[in-house]
Amino acid sequence: MRRIMVAGNWKMHGTAEMARSLAGDVLAALPEFPDVDVAVFPPAPYLALLQSLAEGSRLEWGAQTLNPNAEGAYTGEVSGVMLRDLGCRYVLVGHSERRSLFGESDTDVAERFDAASTAGLEPVLCVGETREEREAGRTEEVVERQVDAVLERCGIGRFEQAVLAYEPVWAIGTGLTATPEEAQAVHAFLRSKMARLDGTIGGQIRILYGGSVKASNAADLFAQEDIDGGLVGGASLKAHDFIGICRGASRDG
Ligand code: 13P
Repeated sequence: MRRIMVAGNWKMHGTAEMARSLAGDVLAALPEFPDVDVAVFPPAPYLALLQSLAEGSRLEWGAQTLNPNAEGAYTGEVSGVMLRDLGCRYVLVGHSERRSLFGESDTDVAERFDAASTAGLEPVLCVGETREEREAGRTEEVVERQVDAVLERCGIGRFEQAVLAYEPVWAIGTGLTATPEEAQAVHAFLRSKMARLDGTIGGQIRILYGGSVKASNAADLFAQEDIDGGLVGGASLKAHDFIGICRGASRDG
């Protein structure tokens, strides 16, 4: 049985004070949803703060991106090894904002996935189609291409320690959510693709849904067979909302 995971991507929001308060509230609420794995992805400058607050608890944390090189003259960049030093378990790769705003190609994303998993991090590989691609009936083709780029470079075995996140671009930050059925169809497509390559990995890999997840829609989304939790943006910035989503994810509650 796959455990539900709720991950908060804070993007470039907040201050140290906000990070401290949000993490503190989430830590205090964890006993309410013992069956849910919870992770937060703060901006890089607050990772050390997360480490100091959450180390030894079951709250996990990760970074929003990494440089694919292990070290070197790359001013301003952060490597996977450094993220491991900060106690990160996860790192997002291929978030649509990285792809569209920072020009990361499928090949760039595959390099980052490779670097992350080589450094001992679990990459959270984000895939998803734009509105135009969905309307043209190209959703499966697009997410398959995005996953294939990583498979070609890294192979299926590396997905044993990885997470997939389906985030339709048209649903990110727009208030529009894929219906549970629309999301489930893409998740099932992704899982069956992985399962054809490796039955065990296909069965165990967690596939998160992202795009306007809120406390009011989380339970319906996470009730779908192949939706194993959420990657939450806007609603992860308010403790009340994020904790509400975690409660909605709990089958014990
Ligand atoms: P929203 O939840 O704000 O739509 O953001 C989703 C997202 O991009 C998470 O990575």
